[in-house]
Amino acid sequence: MEFVVNGEKRKADVEYDMPLLWVLRDELKITGVKYGCGIAQCGACTVHVDGQAVRSCQVAAGEADGAEITTIEGLGTPDALHVVQAAWIEHQVAQCGYCQSGQIMQAAALLDIDPEPTDEVIDAVMGGNLCRCGTYPRIRAAIHAAAKSLREG
Ligand code: FES
Ligand code: FES
Repeated sequence: MEFVVNGEKRKADVEYDMPLLWVLRDELKITGVKYGCGIAQCGACTVHVDGQAVRSCQVAAGEADGAEITTIEGLGTPDALHVVQAAWIEHQVAQCGYCQSGQIMQAAALLDIDPEPTDEVIDAVMGGNLCRCGTYPRIRAAIHAAAKSLREG
């Protein structure tokens, strides 16, 4: 199978049913995406497939064959952070960090479809991304800051 991952063509000789999470982590050695639950309950494995935030533990490799996939490694660069990454640093969101790549990918996808999300929308969209460290208030503040940066260009 062939994927475009973070702008690069990548091949993986895997079974149709292998979860995309394991294609990324084990076959392509892209480890920013995390395994939390494996049953669509935590969001640690969130990546973008053709611009949509998905739980990569629930997407079969075959379903993503030919797709454009973005992981945290491809969202921004150290010299040109994505606006969500910059807001995360500004608000010092991460604690242990385990859930954070998934949180950032989910937040970036949210801002793609709603450039000015309310607290209620943020809570509804981000509520499926669990954080054992309880960083939710800072996640919310960082999303508002990122949205403001986007609006102000
Ligand atoms: S590992 Fe995919 S949702 Fe938890
Ligand atoms: S920062 Fe530790 S689980 Fe979210």
